[in-house]
Amino acid sequence: MSLRQHLLWWLLLPLAVFTAISGMMSYDAARQTADLVQDGALLASARTIGEVVGWDNGVVTATIPPAALEIFESPEQDHVFYRVIADGDRLLAGTPDLALPSVRSAQPVYFETTLNGQSIHAIAYERQLYDAGNTTHITVVVGKTQASRTAMIQALWHPQLLRQLIMLVLAALLVWLGLTFELRPLMKLKDDVANREPMQLVPIHADRLHAELRPIVDAINQCIARLHLHAAAQRQFIADAAHQLRTPLTVLDSQIQVARRCANPDPKLAETLRCMQRSSRRMADLTAKLLLLAQAESASSDSYRDKVDVANVMSDMLSELLVIAQQRNIDLGADLCADSYVAGNASLLSALMTNLVDNALRYTQCGGHVTASCRREGDEVLMQVADNGPGIAAEARSRVFQRFYRGTTNAEGTGLGMAIVREIAHSHGGTVQLDPGAGGIGLVATVRMRAWQGDTI
Ligand SMILES: Nc1ncnc2c1ncn2[C@@H]1O[C@H](COP(=O)(O)OP(=O)(O)O)[C@@H](O)[C@H]1O
Ligand SMILES: [Mg+2]
Repeated sequence: MSLRQHLLWWLLLPLAVFTAISGMMSYDAARQTADLVQDGALLASARTIGEVVGWDNGVVTATIPPAALEIFESPEQDHVFYRVIADGDRLLAGTPDLALPSVRSAQPVYFETTLNGQSIHAIAYERQLYDAGNTTHITVVVGKTQASRTAMIQALWHPQLLRQLIMLVLAALLVWLGLTFELRPLMKLKDDVANREPMQLVPIHADRLHAELRPIVDAINQCIARLHLHAAAQRQFIADAAHQLRTPLTVLDSQIQVARRCANPDPKLAETLRCMQRSSRRMADLTAKLLLLAQAESASSDSYRDKVDVANVMSDMLSELLVIAQQRNIDLGADLCADSYVAGNASLLSALMTNLVDNALRYTQCGGHVTASCRREGDEVLMQVADNGPGIAAEARSRVFQRFYRGTTNAEGTGLGMAIVREIAHSHGGTVQLDPGAGGIGLVATVRMRAWQGDTI
């Protein structure tokens, strides 16, 4: 069950019990009122009948006035019965079958009975009649069916019950609305945590959260801070290790070179030395890339804010790669527009473009074309490298950004180039996209970054 359901349950269950108890109490109050009204009417009727019993030529007679029964008139049309007896059991008027109460008393007695299968609420009222020394006991019994009483209870009770039920529904609705509204910051917090990039280790903002949730967010933030430290320490270790490896690798390379220059080497030894040099260069390339990746990872979007002329960076980088292009007989072109300024780090941006052009030169067949371009598009600067090589299959396009992923093993490589490209683009707040070239031939790698905004950035 969700927190919302739990809270609703805790609020609505007591409210429902309260409504049930209050409903029962209001039913009881309605019943008491209806009983009072009914008993009052029965007593009034019985007294009226009792008053008209009198002596007529020494004989007790009773002439029932219509007013004594009209008192019970109602839309429910209750059946009213009466019985007047003198001296114990001599019937003066009314229904002889109407029962007498089991207890006789000078006070009016109310009792329940049945007549012709109908349940009757009745009153027995006694009075004494005096005339010339004669005393006679008169008992008047008046009873009625219960339809008007039931109707009265309902008329008194139903509106109250309805009011209470409406209040219960309203309370449920308000609680639901209130919870939805109040849980919104919590849901936002959930989305904030769920939608994070794996290495996005910035603290969560707790400003608009409830006081009860702050300790949780603080604990998460402390955890993030520890992770941040840990990740930074790990990156630093990789950077340090790569840095430390560079010097011995350079020394190794020069030593192999010296060994290769020795006169009349054994052909087997010469081949071994050649392979050793290739391996040591690959290792040097790998350490350089590891160092670059560690640098790119620790660069956050706001730590580099120099104004970088992308066209300038690209032309410098292209002139360095021209040799490789010539070696492979690849036509390396450039289309660099001025006004392509971004906020960033020039050496990292140069590394980004170098990796893209290096890939294009590496994987495009000899005699192919590679074009590097940059231009401004609205608020963005676009850097593009297009080639007419084999391209990358759609299903592999997202995988090439993974570390150490290599699509082809014909050319040498480390599998870190595209990971570096993406890391640098992200650290500059940019994106990388890979698309097939015109006519589905080759690959177009596009990097988009926010253009330099002057001092407003
Ligand atoms: N321009 C390109 N044309 C064809 N395939 C490419 C291109 N750029 C990258 N790739 C593919 O993406 C893979 C990953 O590239 P990268 O991360 O630079 O690693 P590496 O170049 O060291 O293999 C490469 O192995 C290659 O298969
Ligand atoms: Mg590469």
